[in-house]
Amino acid sequence: MSARIRRAKKGDEKILAQMELACVLGTWRESSYASELDNVLSVYVIAEIDESPVGFAGDWCVAEEAQIMRVGVIPDCRKQGIGKQLIDALMDDARQKGCVTMTLEVKSQNAAAIALYERCGFQRVGKRSSYYADGSDALLMTSELIHDKKEESK
Ligand SMILES: CC(C)(COP(=O)(O)OP(=O)(O)OC[C@H]1O[C@@H](n2cnc3c(N)ncnc32)[C@H](O)[C@@H]1OP(=O)(O)O)[C@@H](O)C(=O)NCCC(=O)NCCS
Repeated sequence: MSARIRRAKKGDEKILAQMELACVLGTWRESSYASELDNVLSVYVIAEIDESPVGFAGDWCVAEEAQIMRVGVIPDCRKQGIGKQLIDALMDDARQKGCVTMTLEVKSQNAAAIALYERCGFQRVGKRSSYYADGSDALLMTSELIHDKKEESK
C-alpha cells in the first residue's frame, strides 16, 4: 500500500509524539518534537493513509551529511513499503540540500530496521559497543546520496 508523504510542520508535534509512543522509539515527547520542528537543520516527514498518520521519519542535515534521527511505522501498517517511502523522502530532501551522505545508528538486534536500511542502500560501516542504555551495540550505517548529473548541470 502506498501512503501519502507530507512534510511535518509546526503543530504536528502531538502527532509525532503519539507515533513515537506507538512505535516504542524512545523518550521524545511533544516538547522535544516542538524543538525539532523549530530547528532549521531538521526535517520531519509524516506518512498518511486516508489522512490518518501511520509513520514518520526525521533527519538533520549538517553541511554535506544528513543523519537520520527517527523512523517509525505504526505496527498495523508495517511491511507495506511505508518505511522505504519515508526514507526515500528524506533522501530526496537531503540531496536537494546538497548532502552527499546519509548516516544512522541502529540497534544491532533490530532486524526490521536493518532490513529497511539495507533495502534503501545503506551499508554497515562500523559498530559502537554497548552504545545503548540497555547495553546493546549500535551499528553505524551509511549511504552515498547519488546525485543526478543531468539535474546538476541544468
Ligand atoms: C523499521 C520499520 C520502520 C520498518 O518499516 P516498514 O514500513 O515495515 O518497512 P518497509 O515495509 O518499507 O520494508 C522495507 C524492507 O525491509 C524489510 N523488512 C521490514 N520489516 C522487516 C522484518 N520485520 N523482518 C525482515 N525484513 C523486514 C521489508 O521486507 C522490505 O524489504 P523488501 O522490499 O525487499 O521486501 C518498522 O518496523 C518500525 O517502525 N519499527 C519500530 C521502530 C524502529 O525500530 N525504528 C528504527 C529505529 S533505528
